Amino acid sequence: MRKFVLLFMLITLPVFGSEIIDKRKQLYQKNNDNMKLIYSAISSENFEQVIKSAGEIEAFANKMTDYFPVGSVSRGSSDNIWSDFEGFTKAAKLNSNAAKTLRIAAQDNKLDELNSLFSELSSTCKSCHRSYKN
Ligand code: HEC
Repeated sequence: MRKFVLLFMLITLPVFGSEIIDKRKQLYQKNNDNMKLIYSAISSENFEQVIKSAGEIEAFANKMTDYFPVGSVSRGSSDNIWSDFEGFTKAAKLNSNAAKTLRIAAQDNKLDELNSLFSELSSTCKSCHRSYKN
C-alpha cells in the first residue's frame, strides 16, 4: 500500500508539483496574516478573532506535511524536510498543539494567558523554519 502511494505521488508530481508548492506558500502567508490578526486581537480583547485565527493555523498544521510530497522541492524548502521527515512532522505537531492551546485559552476567556501562549506559538513557527526552511 505504501509503495503504491509512493508510486502514485511520483507519477502525479510532475503535474501537481508546482501547484502544491504555490498552495503551501499561500497557506504560510495566511499563517503570517493570522499571526498579525491574533497579535492585534489580543490587545483589543477580541477573543472571537483569536479563536478563528488560531483555529486556522491549527488546521493547516494538522495537514502541513501533506503539502510536502517527495520531490516537491522549492527554493524555500530545506532538504532536511525529506531526510528527516519524522522531525518535520514533529515540528508541525508542536505548531498544531501550540495553536490549539491558544485557541482553547481564548475560548475560556483567559486573557492573562494569551500573550505568553502567542509567543509560544510564534516560537514553534521559528523553530521549524530554523531546521527546515531555507
Ligand atoms: C513544520 C514546519 C513549519 C512550521 C511549523 C511553520 N512553517 Fe512556515 N515554512 C516552512 C517551510 C518548509 C517553508 C518553505 C515552503 C516553500 O517555500 O516551499 C515555510 C515558509 C513560510 C513562509 C514563506 C511563504 C512564501 O511565500 O514563500 C511564511 C511567511 C511562513 N512560513 C510563516 C509561518 C508562520 C507564521 C508559522 C507559524 C504560525 C509557520 N510558518 C510555521 C515550515 C514551517
